[in-house]
This record gives sequence, C-alpha cells and structure tokens, in this order.
Amino acid sequence: MLKKYLLSPGPTAVPENVLLRMAQPMIHHRTPQFSAIFAETKGMLETLFQTKNDVLTLASSGTGAMEAAILNLYSEGDTIITVNGGKFGERWGKIGREYGLNVVELTVDWGQAIPVASVEAALKANPEAKGVLLQASDTSTTTEHPVREIAQLTAQYDDCTIVVDAITALGVIDMPMDDWGLDVVISGSQKALMLPPGLAVISLSDKAWDQVSRSTTKKFYFDLSTEQKNQKSGKDTTAWTPAVSLIIGLNEVLTMMLDEGLEAMFARHTLLAEATRAGVQALGMKLISSAPATSATGAYVPEGVDGAAFVKYLRDDMGVTFAGGQDDLKGKILRIAHLGYYDVFDIVTAMSAIEIALNRFGHNFSMGAGVAAAQQVLVNRFPAQS
Ligand SMILES: Cc1ncc(COP(=O)(O)O)c(C=O)c1O
Repeated sequence: MLKKYLLSPGPTAVPENVLLRMAQPMIHHRTPQFSAIFAETKGMLETLFQTKNDVLTLASSGTGAMEAAILNLYSEGDTIITVNGGKFGERWGKIGREYGLNVVELTVDWGQAIPVASVEAALKANPEAKGVLLQASDTSTTTEHPVREIAQLTAQYDDCTIVVDAITALGVIDMPMDDWGLDVVISGSQKALMLPPGLAVISLSDKAWDQVSRSTTKKFYFDLSTEQKNQKSGKDTTAWTPAVSLIIGLNEVLTMMLDEGLEAMFARHTLLAEATRAGVQALGMKLISSAPATSATGAYVPEGVDGAAFVKYLRDDMGVTFAGGQDDLKGKILRIAHLGYYDVFDIVTAMSAIEIALNRFGHNFSMGAGVAAAQQVLVNRFPAQS
C-alpha cells in the first residue's frame, strides 16, 4: 500500500464530506430542489467574492471563464493591456489575439510582480485601452501581482476595466471585489474551492456589464448576458445543463468556508504559506518569487538534483504529488500547494516528504531542518497553554 497525498496547486484535495455530498443520487436541474440549492450557493459565492454583483457559474475549467471575459467585454480591434509574468498571464494575450484584439503585453520576469508604474505608463501610452487583464496570483511562478493598486489606476479611465484571474487567489487572500473596484473576478473549482475540476465562477461589475452591452464579439455558450438572465435571483438556474454534482459540492464547500469565516480562512492560508517558505528555505531551497503567493510556494530544487526526477520520485515512489515547473522552470523547481483543504499537518507532511526525497537523492543537509522551521511558524495556529 502507498498512501497518497495531493499537494499540487490544482487539483487540490477534496474534503470527504464534499465527496460524500456529491455522491448522492443525481437530481434534475429544472426542479425547485435544484433551484433552491443553486440560489443558496450563489448567495454564498457573493459573500466569498465580497460583492453585490451576481456571481455566475459556468460548466468549464478556469480558462473558459477567462475566454468568456474577453469575448463578452471586448470587440475585435479593441486594445487591452495584459500582464505576462508567467504561463497564465501569457494566456490572456493568447486569447486576446485569437479574438482579434490589439494586445499590449507587459512582460515581467518570472517570479517578479508587475510594477504598478509599468501599468500606469501603459495606460498613459494607450489611453484607448479597454481593459487591464492580469492574475492576482500566477500559479506557474507562485507570484502575486498588486491588483488593488492597479484597480485604482483603471478606475481613473471611464471605459477601462480590470479583469482579475483569481483562480488561485479567491478564498486564499482578502480581495474584496466591490471595495477594491475590481470589474471582473474569475475562479475555478479545483483550487481553493476544494472541488474536482470542471466549474468556473465569474462576477462582473456594472462598469463591466456596460462594456458587455457594447461588445460585438460573437458568442453562444459563453454569452454571459444569457447566463445572467437565467442565474439571477428568482430564476435560479443556468442557461444550459449545469454541472449538477459540482454545484451541490460547491454548496457544501461554501458552507464550510463561511463557517470558518473569511478572516480566519485568509489567516490560515497566510500562516501555511509562511511556514512553507520557512521550511524550504531552511533546506537551502531558494524561492522563485520575490512576491511569493499565499496559495502555493515555488522553490528551486537544490543544485545537483534533477527537478523532474525529484517530482516524479515523490509522486510515484512516495505517493506525494507536488507540481514541478513549466517552460523555463521545467526540471528546476517544486511547487507546494497550500490553498483550500490544507492545514498544519499537511505542511508538516510536505516538508517531511521533501526531506526524505532529498535524502534519497543524496543531497547533503541536516535532516529535520525544514520540518523544524515550518513548525516554528505553525505553532502559532494553536493557542499557548500554560
Ligand atoms: C492562475 C491560473 N489561471 C488560469 C488557470 C487555468 O485554469 P484551468 O486549468 O482550470 O483552465 C490556472 C490553472 O492552474 C491558474 O492557476
């Protein structure tokens, strides 16, 4: 027997109660029974997004919602500014160009956050820009971008929206949609929402809906206006057959998240991130990011260790799945998830697994150093007893 642990930044671990709830007999989606669950779930999503806007649910992966944002808000020939500091930032540009948009791409070295001044300069140079599209957290580089400050810039332009891919930020960091003036916020089920993949969520501000009303891009399945008409309060359904089981699972997950409370949930994620950073650094592993994410920690494997073989060994021989690197970072890094259904002892497991694997790869280090450094932080999760 090899006990399995899933510590990758998506898909993430799914709580047992959520799995059980989703395993119940299927119900029909055009019924009062489903609509009641849908309405309650939508209300809880709005609390999680910290918004008064509708939060729409789509049966797609996160990329579907990214594409939906672009094709609903903008039209061929429109200028958009995208932040490309990793795989997912690059995706904004790819989608935009596919729809004939004029993409002004701000590239930033992997592991660096975009300087606010770069966005400010790009907006000044392209005052006709209809949007700034970026990640709150780019999972490929485990880096957070300064979304709040950038929203303050786009707010100064009447017809420029900020579109935030919060796929690994929603439910992880405090990012109040309405207070910060975020126009579009997107997430996906397989991250902090602790569900299997297959569901995306998206919310639009009034400013974004105004752009939607003027977009001439052709769309059908991802027509957000059609979805809003169906999903709004009172109708409480979806335009097309929804991912019924995932929505039922989402109802369970959101109940758990709101029971924990937003503040406590963000604090837990912050603590786990701090502990993980302390742990890997104590093992001599350098962080990839100078603005490290709260959702996952990326660190270079030590010199002399083959990163791809290391991740494979952990997964296949030890039963512990982390993520490796993509593109330039392929074979060089390890990414450790701490978003969603994770707590203190998952981080201890992660650190211990890394140490055992490092030992098996012949790396010379002080066994226990990573676990100890992580635990020094993790103790703060529990009250001191006299
Ligand atoms: C920040 C970010 N954006 C976009 C995506 C793409 O989402 P999906 O794979 O669900 O289409 C991911 C997935 O890992 C992500 O982490």
